[in-house]
Amino acid sequence: MSSGSFSKSGYSLQLAASSLVGALSPALLAWFERAGRKHLPWQRDPTPYRVWVSEIMLQQTQVATVIPYYERFMQRFPDVQTLAAARLDEVLHLWTGLGYYARARNLHRAAQRVVGEFKGVFPEDLTTMQSLPGVGRSTAGAILALARGQRHPILDGNVKRVLARYFGVDGDPGERNVLAILWSLAEQCTPPARASEYTQAIMDLGATVCVRTRPHCAVCPLHAHCIARIEHRQAQLPAPRKKRPRPQRSAHALILMRADGAILLERRPPTGLWGGLWTLPQFDDAATAQAWTEQWRVGRTHALPPLVHAFTHFELLLHPLLMELTDEPPPPHADACWYASGENVAIGLAAPT
Ligand code: ADE
Repeated sequence: MSSGSFSKSGYSLQLAASSLVGALSPALLAWFERAGRKHLPWQRDPTPYRVWVSEIMLQQTQVATVIPYYERFMQRFPDVQTLAAARLDEVLHLWTGLGYYARARNLHRAAQRVVGEFKGVFPEDLTTMQSLPGVGRSTAGAILALARGQRHPILDGNVKRVLARYFGVDGDPGERNVLAILWSLAEQCTPPARASEYTQAIMDLGATVCVRTRPHCAVCPLHAHCIARIEHRQAQLPAPRKKRPRPQRSAHALILMRADGAILLERRPPTGLWGGLWTLPQFDDAATAQAWTEQWRVGRTHALPPLVHAFTHFELLLHPLLMELTDEPPPPHADACWYASGENVAIGLAAPT
């Protein structure tokens, strides 16, 4: 452990914090005026609805990827009432490609709650904001700071990195005690005024300057006091997450192709993997898949090369089986449809599909 830094093994928070804390927000705010991002689409007319949608989209996705999705989403769902009244299928359709679809399902449910329970007005306090599906402590703080100018600390991945480096916080930020230190520092560093600019500034610094690999310390406004820079430990801080090997599962996906080229899709149940999205019929093993196809008159069958799809907690090895049908069957149940490639229908497709 270094002289000026924090460690997870218990340490005086006050000691190092006071002077470092005091120096952080003025330097950051001055930098933000010069170099911060001020023309992102959600910064135009930053209502709680617009900021909320942007923060959910930005949870696991970078700004450049989010922008076109955000613009399309706002065009179709300009307010929380429109979103609440929409079909989940359409929300998922506009989310196709962004990944982490639980975010879209939570967004839809939260919109229905804001309309049904709060008469369409977003909560004005942190606790109620945090009770919305998909809104954690950091996201709730960010929304209230950016849209209402309230003072709340935030601690997303970028901010964790900035604070861990600046204060020299050792240990895995995924661990409870390290996280508690970071939250405490985030709280102390958030200034009483200019909450919105400060919040945007610290996220921007993490996203554009204090990046994970080879941070741009020469242009960093915090460079004079940053413990990681002074001790040349930028590459060690924050400590990497302990990696657990991702277990592998396998499944068999049927590409049932009608004579006209249309393919059978099924809608997944609303919860669980790919909840609410449309996928190929999928089976745990080849025998079950084969048995299911006995209801059709199948012509040629081709086993296609398997593909790997990574979920957060496991990897799925998917074996696609292409079967050409010789008859023209109707869809086998209500949550199934024949889908012609390129057809413009508003449904959300799972990525491997
Ligand atoms: N990441 C999360 N929220 C963000 C925001 N408002 N601006 C830029 N990056 C972000």
